[in-house]
This record gives sequence, C-alpha cells and structure tokens, in this order.
Amino acid sequence: MPDILEVKNLSVEINKKKTLKGINIKIETGQIYVLFGPNGSGKTSLLMTIMGFPGYKIKEGGIFFEGREITKKTVDERARLGIGMGFQLPQDIRGVKLIDILKICAGKKPTAELSPGEKALIDRFNLTDLLERDVNLDYSGGEKKRAEMLQLLLMKPKLLLLDEPDSGVDLESLKLIGEEIQEYVRKNNASALLITHQGYILEYLKAQRACVLLDSTIHCHNKPQVILNDIRKKGYRKCVKCWEGKTKK
Ligand SMILES: Nc1ncnc2c1ncn2[C@@H]1O[C@H](COP(=O)(O)OP(=O)(O)O)[C@@H](O)[C@H]1O
Ligand SMILES: [Mg+2]
Repeated sequence: MPDILEVKNLSVEINKKKTLKGINIKIETGQIYVLFGPNGSGKTSLLMTIMGFPGYKIKEGGIFFEGREITKKTVDERARLGIGMGFQLPQDIRGVKLIDILKICAGKKPTAELSPGEKALIDRFNLTDLLERDVNLDYSGGEKKRAEMLQLLLMKPKLLLLDEPDSGVDLESLKLIGEEIQEYVRKNNASALLITHQGYILEYLKAQRACVLLDSTIHCHNKPQVILNDIRKKGYRKCVKCWEGKTKK
C-alpha cells in the first residue's frame, strides 16, 4: 500500500521564528499514527503546515500526498484532495448555525436535506440540541470537540489531522470520538495523524505507530501503548534514547 503522506526534510518558520527543522515522516494508507511530544515541540505547527495554513512558511523540504507534491498548494486545494484537520482549539463562528456548517461540510447547501446516514452520524454525536446555535459559541469544551470531529467526518477526508481530539472531553465523549475515528478509518481505508498527550483515546482506537516529536526530529515505533507507558515512566528524551538504542542492537 503506498504512503498517503510523506514529509521530507521540512523546515518551517512562523513570524520569522524557526519552528520546525528538517522534519521527516511517512504515513501509510489505512493506518493511524499517534504523535506525542512535549509542549512547544512543534506538533501543532506540523499539522498546520501539512494542512497548508499561510502563516507557516516552508523554508526547505516538501510535502507529498498520495505521491504528488502539494508543498505549494493552498489550504482549500489540499482539503479538496482529501486532507482534513480537527483543531486543538476550535474557534467560535458567530452568525453561522451548526446545522448549516454541517451541511456545508457534507458538500450540501444549507437548504438541502441531509442523508439518513449523515443524520445518524449527527445523532450519534449527541449534538441535536446545539444544531440551531452558532458554531462553538458558548459550547462546553467537550461539545466543541464533538462538533469539530463531526464536521471533519462529514467532509470525508482521506487523511485526518487530529490535534488533541481528546483534550478536555468527558469519558463518554472520549469513547465516542475514539470509536468514531476508528470506524471511519476502517470503513474508508482512511489514515490519521493524531496528537495526544495523555493517550487515553488509545483505549478506543487502534494506532499502528507512535511517534515522538523532539528537537525537530520524529522518532516512530510500532508499539503505541508501550511508548506511552515509557514516556510516563521515563519522560520523552529518555524514552526515545532507550528505544533507539534497542533498535540499533
Ligand atoms: N504564531 C506564532 N508566532 C510565533 N511563534 C509561534 C506561533 N505559533 C507557535 N509558535 C511557537 O512555535 C513553537 C511550537 O509550537 P506548537 O507547534 O504550538 O507546539 P506544540 O503543539 O507541540 O505544543 C512554540 O515555541 C510556539 O511558541
Ligand atoms: Mg499543540
């Protein structure tokens, strides 16, 4: 199976500040990768750069999606190709009702009807009471994350970039979000790059690889739960050193 995404030697600046330096990562089609790393290591910047946000200036390197270079493509071009992002802190959108944006995400006009499958998805996300309210305005933290995930899944991306979909959500929502991501990836042979700190979401979805972003280098391993336990016990740096030592032997 070809790689859905390849990031090659990527260096990025935001507001003239070097944020990422020589990043490399490949994501295989149909797989879920989790990305760990200390605060400020550049995880969000990496996802924002893959999505193509203009503030993230690529100084070196390239991004390839399904084997084609997308480094110079705009956010909307990348979204049309099948890249979608769920934000760490979803923004309020005053004057836009949730139901309308959900229809737009599903590729429909606000006046159109949703399909039974789309309606069932909305029901499962338990957001029926919020449909007539403005997007994210005065939602709880967990409601924002559920609304964000629902919008993303309705767009049917091939690659999901998920920035801490589990932070600030209650236990029931965590289970729902984790299981919905897993089911979506399985049914659509989609792929995901998912940032998490606590890793609790890993109880509800099966990630094939865990990566740690540290000092602008991504270290990947195929045992996410082992890596998470190692990070808890030893911290990021010692964990990476220890497992790289083992693979060299
Ligand atoms: N708009 C910005 N202007 C300047 N520096 C930024 C901006 N956004 C992020 N940074 C800096 O880039 C670094 C990486 O941030 P970020 O990608 O958010 O890290 P993470 O998601 O791993 O916590 C941090 O030092 C952060 O302060
Ligand atoms: Mg972040």
